[in-house]
Amino acid sequence: MSGSTSRRHLVLVGLMGAGKTTVGERCARRLDRPFVDTDEIVVATSGQTVAELFATEGEAGFRARERAALVDACAAPEPLVVACGGGAVLDAENRATMRAAGVVVWLRASPGQLADRVGDGAGRPLLAGAPSVETLERLAALRAPAYEAAAHVVVDTDGLAPDAVAGRVLEELDRCAA
Ligand code: S3P
Repeated sequence: MSGSTSRRHLVLVGLMGAGKTTVGERCARRLDRPFVDTDEIVVATSGQTVAELFATEGEAGFRARERAALVDACAAPEPLVVACGGGAVLDAENRATMRAAGVVVWLRASPGQLADRVGDGAGRPLLAGAPSVETLERLAALRAPAYEAAAHVVVDTDGLAPDAVAGRVLEELDRCAA
């Protein structure tokens, strides 16, 4: 079975700025599948932005909503492209949910590239409006084991445009579904 006919979801994980949304939308277009983003589901169902949720419900409240969004997305009967918030992989249940439902691809990037891509960090409370290469280095080191545990495959994105990354992701999806 080729990747384009695989019935499994394509699940993208990686740090903030890894390109999960941009690349995910392109993959979805090329696969002719719906695209969903767990952050967007959380925002739509709560009526609050991610930053507001962190302020009103704390990170724990946000993570509970994120877990529910991931479960819902993974339960969809049609194959989707699912972009996960950068911290979703920290929860072992989430990792099991995504691995059981789809091919999980870790979009990996160096802290320097991530810092360039997140800009001023707006809307990302963990970057507190002041993202630095050091903050992203720390997060990358802390989280690498969780991304590794979650992912079936890794795609390195440094120096690649979103379309090129999407191409590599789809090649990996094909390989996994072969
Ligand atoms: C987070 C990443 C964000 C969002 C929230 C927490 C994280 O999503 O879920 O701000 O813990 O890495 P993106 O990775 O889409 O920016």
